[in-house]
Amino acid sequence: DLETSLRPRRLEQYIGQDKVKETLAIFIRAAQARAESLDHVLLYGPPGLGKTTLANIIAHEMGVNIRVTSGPAIERQGDLAAILTNLGQGDVLFIDEIHRLSRQVEEVLYPAMEDFALDIMIGKGPGARSVRLNLPSFTLVGATTRAGLLTSPLRDRFGVISRLDFYTTDELMQIILRTAQILRVAADEQGALAIASRSRGTPRVANRLLKRVRDYSQVRSDGMINGVLADEALQFLEIDDLGLDEVDRKLLKAVIEKFGGGPVGLDTLAASTGEEAGTIEDVLEPFLLQLGLLARTPRGRVVTQRAYSHLGIQPVSMEGT
Ligand code: ADE
Repeated sequence: DLETSLRPRRLEQYIGQDKVKETLAIFIRAAQARAESLDHVLLYGPPGLGKTTLANIIAHEMGVNIRVTSGPAIERQGDLAAILTNLGQGDVLFIDEIHRLSRQVEEVLYPAMEDFALDIMIGKGPGARSVRLNLPSFTLVGATTRAGLLTSPLRDRFGVISRLDFYTTDELMQIILRTAQILRVAADEQGALAIASRSRGTPRVANRLLKRVRDYSQVRSDGMINGVLADEALQFLEIDDLGLDEVDRKLLKAVIEKFGGGPVGLDTLAASTGEEAGTIEDVLEPFLLQLGLLARTPRGRVVTQRAYSHLGIQPVSMEGT
């Protein structure tokens, strides 16, 4: 479908994340030259930066099949055993949100990753014994928002650990122009730049905004996307100059208006904004930290001077009080 076709299929077509690309290219080529499966790969970083895309590219470059699943989807040991025993030689198993695997399921994964073996318990009680089943060699590609969320025995079993970073505006512009071509939308460089600079360093956001700006242009204009039209559409969508939306601004305003600019603890902030702590920490906050609007201190989150000026709020001076 269209969403899948928007994703680059080869490493060569993948824009940005140069260090990760270079690293993977070397290990893929080396594994191929030895006719071995690629070592297990852990990809971590904020959502929407291309972890799933990279997993698909790894499989494609290695010339193997990919099986896609996620931590929460694998509820029982048997679920994972079923997946593992259905893999072909050298296949990629992609587990998204791998930090959400249960302890019991994780324990099945250890011998699978290390020895390509599945230990199965037969019987119960004193007569119980375990038999070892050989698995095909495979490549586990795990994805998570933060590497620190993984237990260390799991993290230690990955041979390659790569962090994805926010994209530059220039990289996002290239991605938007590429997507526009696939979608057959007429977008010029100024239009792509206007969208790129408000995409929170995130290709998923960039592609989504491109589609919404296209819709706006189709109805209010001629379907073309230039700088002026994109600015107008993004204003209509209430996305500000830094790419912040209503939810981001609400979060920053809460720290200012309810907690005097901070410090405020994550759980307190979550309770007062109605957002989940995990969503704040993994989805909303990383980009606000990157922009320098929010900072983390040992005592909690604080907004910065830049947040006050961005929101047009006057900091309350404590001097002389
Ligand atoms: N579409 C989404 N992310 C992309 C990327 N990193 N490179 C090329 N196209 C993309």
